[in-house]
Amino acid sequence: MCGIVGIVGSGPVADRLVDALRRLEYRGYDSAGIATLDGGLIGRRRAEGKLGNLAQKLVGDPLVGRIGIGHTRWATHGAPTEQNAHPHATERVAIVHNGIIENFRQLLEDLARDGYSPKTQTDTESVALWVTRELDRGVAPEQAVANTLKQLRGAFALAFMFKGDENLLIAARSGAPLAIGFGEGEMYLGSDAMALAPFTAKLAYLEDGDWAVITPTSVVIRDMDGAVVERARQLSQVSALLVDRGNHRHFMAKEIYEQPETISHTLSHYVDMGAEKVSIRETMPFDFAKLTRLTISACGTAYFAGAVAKYWFERYARLPVDIDVASEFRYREPPMEMGGLSLFISQSGETADTLAALRYCAAQGQHVASLVNTQESTIARESDVVFPILCGPEIGVASTKALSAQLTALASLAIAAGRARGVLNAEQEADLVRALISVPNAVSRALGQEDRIVEIAKKLSKAKDVLYLGRGVMFPIAMEGALKLKEISYIHAEGYAAGELKHGPIALVDEAMPVIVVAPSDELVDKTLSNMQEVAARGGKIILITDEAGAATVGQGVAETILIPQVSNFVAPILALIPVQLLAYHTAVAMGTDVDQPRNLAKSVTVE
Ligand code: AGP
Repeated sequence: MCGIVGIVGSGPVADRLVDALRRLEYRGYDSAGIATLDGGLIGRRRAEGKLGNLAQKLVGDPLVGRIGIGHTRWATHGAPTEQNAHPHATERVAIVHNGIIENFRQLLEDLARDGYSPKTQTDTESVALWVTRELDRGVAPEQAVANTLKQLRGAFALAFMFKGDENLLIAARSGAPLAIGFGEGEMYLGSDAMALAPFTAKLAYLEDGDWAVITPTSVVIRDMDGAVVERARQLSQVSALLVDRGNHRHFMAKEIYEQPETISHTLSHYVDMGAEKVSIRETMPFDFAKLTRLTISACGTAYFAGAVAKYWFERYARLPVDIDVASEFRYREPPMEMGGLSLFISQSGETADTLAALRYCAAQGQHVASLVNTQESTIARESDVVFPILCGPEIGVASTKALSAQLTALASLAIAAGRARGVLNAEQEADLVRALISVPNAVSRALGQEDRIVEIAKKLSKAKDVLYLGRGVMFPIAMEGALKLKEISYIHAEGYAAGELKHGPIALVDEAMPVIVVAPSDELVDKTLSNMQEVAARGGKIILITDEAGAATVGQGVAETILIPQVSNFVAPILALIPVQLLAYHTAVAMGTDVDQPRNLAKSVTVE
């Protein structure tokens, strides 16, 4: 996912653009660049790799100017080279782009007929050339952009800067987020509030189809038909102090350790601790008691949150749940009963597949609810009700504290549904709420296993393949553990339902493949322990994640045991997250990979 920034201002912008791009590094990128106007002429500096390379280039070959645009690129079309890095420019216009221009080939064919040919392999350059042709035809910049936008197909956010006009930026949004920041004698634009935090907290978010004409003292936003529209100005929740690693080596470590605090924060929003009951503050345009089905859709780690919630809603509220990954759901186009509830889980609130699934459900007459960390996001804005997870900005690409916050909120909603549907009485609710209230302290204790996990991770880092097993609510945790490991250590890992082992995967088991079994002492632990014996009998190396009671029932054949505190079965999935997160983190550290920005990954996948 690329990052965009822009400043039209009163003072030098080059260094501030690079600083703003640093705040977008968490989105994942493989090259970066900025452009400014120096004496009205477009100057560009771009570099492959990390922002340090760009900053170095600027030291030796600085850019002046009080207007500029910047970009961190996560390659979609064309290799991550300096030539393909943004900003892309002709002599007359410079642009930066987040997203995909789906019809760029047709645009280039049309342009070639008039002698406009690209120098790069990117889809973005087709936009710069189309605007240039408009300008060459004598069309004014604003109209040139408006005419160009009408030609584009795809999901994108764009920013334009024009030769000779030091008081004009134009921004456009269609599918990828873009915010306008309001300063004093300066205006800003950025992919999210994080980028703009050092400049201003006063923001307005463009909606799909909007484009904005920005000068140092004015912003005029128009819709795709050219009509002037107003977009709500809001104070960003993101503070300028947020992104530092504290005393941790990586953001991921910081965010793993933040979980006792962030889970407490989420709980305080959903639970009346004194009354030991759930208290949902959001106005729900549906009645849990009348729902016949809940549909959940999400991607990646957010999907695993939904997969755990399925067990909770079905067990504690007797509410049938359909769940699917959004990239499958959106094209499966399932028939849906009018007035049903569809829930979308997304940390960023910008994941393209999840947003598309949401729009499908809205068109099917569903009540649309979302569970997000970014309340200013597109998914939130298109929901009938938004349940916040309130875990603060998550910078590490590998999601950790967002997942435990999602589970905390989902557990609260499942209890609320159980009460509304008469499945839970007040005492049962209090029991479950007390279990939730115990989680932050239990998580702190679970973190205490870190030293042991560091030693296990050193051995795990030698593996080529790893199998994670779990039953019931621990099956999604096993899948999440596998995802965490593979996305940051690059070791192949699979999460499997323990009961499925003998239906094929057991053929993989040998002494070279560690098998990580997530099995706290719940009602299924005996079944899982017998699966473990099957693994041990074939020389498999078992790493067991369990609690004291589980450890007491385990026979020999377990190479390592990682303990989690003894907690209610209801909240055990949240606790089991801690060892799988730490295991993945320390394995990646042992392997020396880029833990916070793993190769090929983006923090939020805003393209299909
Ligand atoms: C999780 O560690 C991954 N980074 C990824 O699977 C992520 O969970 C997924 O892309 C969904 O993102 P979202 O929650 O922002 O929608």
